[in-house]
Amino acid sequence: MGSNIAINEKIEKYINDNSIKLNPIQKEIILYNNDLGDIKRMQISISQCHFLHLIIKTSKIERVLEIGTFTGLSALTMSLALPKNGSLVALDKNLNTSKVAKDFFKKANQEDKIKLIIKPALESLKDLINNNEKFDLVFIDADKENYKKYYDLSLDLVKINGLIVIDNVLWHGDVINKKKKDKLSINIRNFNSYVNSDKRTESLILPVGDGLAVCRKL
Ligand SMILES: C[S@@+](CC[C@H](N)C(=O)[O-])C[C@H]1O[C@@H](n2cnc3c(N)ncnc32)[C@H](O)[C@@H]1O
Repeated sequence: MGSNIAINEKIEKYINDNSIKLNPIQKEIILYNNDLGDIKRMQISISQCHFLHLIIKTSKIERVLEIGTFTGLSALTMSLALPKNGSLVALDKNLNTSKVAKDFFKKANQEDKIKLIIKPALESLKDLINNNEKFDLVFIDADKENYKKYYDLSLDLVKINGLIVIDNVLWHGDVINKKKKDKLSINIRNFNSYVNSDKRTESLILPVGDGLAVCRKL
């Protein structure tokens, strides 16, 4: 069996240089996040943007739910890929970053497509379930401690054959480093095992960005 290539910064740059071009407002968000210092690591990677773009473009996805929006890069990416009649519900509890995200959505003429709900995501998810809302795609990228709860609640919200995509499931490679016994590493490992043995979905992990789990609801 051939060994897989390790993705370093140079290869990541090569991949980005030879992939889909970003929209000007996506570029603006990335520049804005770069100035935030360490916290910029919160945003999804450019290759993850392209992956989300392509799965939306090549499918019949019209309704998207995002859990964890930050300054808006992933939400804007998905909204731009949606058809005209598409819509996206974005959940985040942070007022300041949500305001920044909203400004970017407006600048990209996506404010009518994206509804941002600012409160703890578990509360919003329960509201959405009570309102019998349904989505074609759920993207989970918020606090890792709640990943299992987000995944279970998302299963009540996603249609059959719909997708749940979860970020950071390789956790900078720490998932395979047994010496890493911190709470978050253990959490992500347990989460990955839970999803892998879940009979309600079929799933795979892609080494895109910090690792994306892609689960299809059966
Ligand atoms: C990794 S960032 C999301 C990055 C975003 N997807 C992007 O592409 O820029 C995680 C976000 O989850 C939000 N968050 C953390 N805990 C939350 C909670 N309990 N409810 C709602 N949002 C939460 C944070 O405020 C933060 O904006």
